[in-house]
Amino acid sequence: MAEIDYSKRSFNYYPTNAIVFSKCIDGRWTKPEVTGDFNFSLHCFAGIFHYAPSCFEGMKAYRGADGRVRLFRPDENAKRMQSSANYLDMPAPTMEMFIDMCVMCVQENWDYIPSYESGASLYLRPVLFGINPQLGIKSAKDVMFAVMSSAVGTYSGGKSLMPVTAVISRNYDRAATYGSGGYKLGANYAQSLHAYNLAHRMGYKELLFLDSATHSHIEEFGSSNFFAIKHGCYITPNSPSVLPSITNKSLRKVAEEFGLKVERRTIFIDELETFEEVNSCGTAVVITPISRIDDKVTLESGTITREYRYGEEAGPISTKLYNRIVGIQKGLEEDTYGWCMFVNDPK
Ligand code: PLP
Ligand code: COI
Repeated sequence: MAEIDYSKRSFNYYPTNAIVFSKCIDGRWTKPEVTGDFNFSLHCFAGIFHYAPSCFEGMKAYRGADGRVRLFRPDENAKRMQSSANYLDMPAPTMEMFIDMCVMCVQENWDYIPSYESGASLYLRPVLFGINPQLGIKSAKDVMFAVMSSAVGTYSGGKSLMPVTAVISRNYDRAATYGSGGYKLGANYAQSLHAYNLAHRMGYKELLFLDSATHSHIEEFGSSNFFAIKHGCYITPNSPSVLPSITNKSLRKVAEEFGLKVERRTIFIDELETFEEVNSCGTAVVITPISRIDDKVTLESGTITREYRYGEEAGPISTKLYNRIVGIQKGLEEDTYGWCMFVNDPK
């Protein structure tokens, strides 16, 4: 295979070798299959095309400084997919099947796992969606579970820890108060697409969503969770309509390790001006510092009503948290929590 320069990559789809899939028909899962054909043939009445019975996960296979390949907390992704599928009332893979198929996907695409030096990683995208033909509004009875991958660089397309700008979304919500925001459903992202396009056109990388009931407090970014640092505290929203991020959960542990107080609570918009460091966190974004958050009456408006600035460099505490979490993922730091799972070279 020709040498690929992974260090120039951003978060995009780049072809790999193979995907792994299994179908659950009438309650029975088929044996996982590996294929180099990336096109699925689906019935046009399959639920996925109509009522969006679909959920997904995101995880990364990291090549460590020691050359070994690790997955980070895949059991957490398996549990979250089960919780999403449960919300959609459709079958889900067992934890064992989920992890086995992720490992198979990594091994089938071994030559696409970027080197440690490149800073890139092999992003895994497990997806689960309804495939049985249906017309009435019903949950999917039969589903396809597939694990695919793409070797990606940073989410921002720049250097790690490069700050990005964000805008508050006041006139578009991501998730309803009693809705599906706490699950990783494709439908949640569909809700954010139009608002993202508006924000991107205005030059913002990120969108910060508010609670849909009162539009008074911070929920999360469209791609990731929100956390801030103030007076030695790690502060992150606590809301059922925020996706329970595995990165955020892990960072809260690391923050405690560093002697920070951890607060999961309501964050009113006005509190933004008191934060020393603000970041987005998640598998794709890792920790991405936010340099500025603009507030506007609507996303369409050209007028900024208020701006919150956090500097053009990553903050010192955020940098420390980043180094520790990435250090664990890449085998530079001791994995005291047993978060990493090694994947063996198939050859
Ligand atoms: N919030 C949203 C909306 C996301 O899309 C993601 C990405 O998965 C996250 C948060 C972060 O979750 P995790 O850290 O488990 O990747
Ligand atoms: C991830 O971080 O894995 C995600 O799924 C976020 C992505 C939608 C940008």
